Amino acid sequence: MEQTLLILKPDATMRRGVGAAVFEQILNALPDAKMKGFLEIAVPFHLAEKHYAVHEGKFFYPWLLQFIQVGNVLATVLEGEDIVARLREVLGATFVEKASPDSLRGKYGIVGGVNVAHASDEPANAEKEIALWQKEAQLDLSQDGFEAINAYIAKWLETPIVATEQIRQICQDYAREYLNRDIYQSEITELLIEECPDWMEAELSTLANAILGNMDLDRDSDR
Ligand code: CDP
Ligand code: MG
Repeated sequence: MEQTLLILKPDATMRRGVGAAVFEQILNALPDAKMKGFLEIAVPFHLAEKHYAVHEGKFFYPWLLQFIQVGNVLATVLEGEDIVARLREVLGATFVEKASPDSLRGKYGIVGGVNVAHASDEPANAEKEIALWQKEAQLDLSQDGFEAINAYIAKWLETPIVATEQIRQICQDYAREYLNRDIYQSEITELLIEECPDWMEAELSTLANAILGNMDLDRDSDR
């Protein structure tokens, strides 16, 4: 049976309500999928590098390594028929602006490539990624992920999700001039505080920095 690797990136892991909503909607959209293993982890550099090795040398690669290490991520494996393509469909297009508004990236993504989650793009890559995360992150597929994910949803679903639109607006304002970056960064940090109840301000400031960092890629390339 086909398997795929799902990683909730730091934007969706630190924003606890977003993570809970994303898992809930994935369970609803893919009710036949088996969830195998569930792990919250701070991605070590060597795992970030290997996980994203296919993008090495691309203009966004350094940003991507930085972003995935900003805070914790949540990892699980989904198993089911045609699950690779079906999970990517639920997630939506890579860029938040291009993702359908009812996809998870369209609903909860902040901007550009700050896009909620990673999902394997084809079965052969899924196999490689799953093997990597089993080896380097001790993701344990013999563990039933379903219960753990439901416990996560129950714990965090009530956490407010209030900042998505406001942060998107701040990013647009920032991209108009690319000035006063530190002011925009503190504004985003302030908004994240309510959504990220168990993270310190300094950690949220690092996430805000990575969000603006993705905007900087727009300025520095013609993506
Ligand atoms: O995640 P997905 O497979 O949809 O996209 P990808 O092409 O494999 O790129 C990996 C990740 O890099 C994306 O999810 C974005 O977070 C980021 N990215 C970006 O920020 N800017 C780009 N031009 C391309 C990718
Ligand atoms: Mg990809």
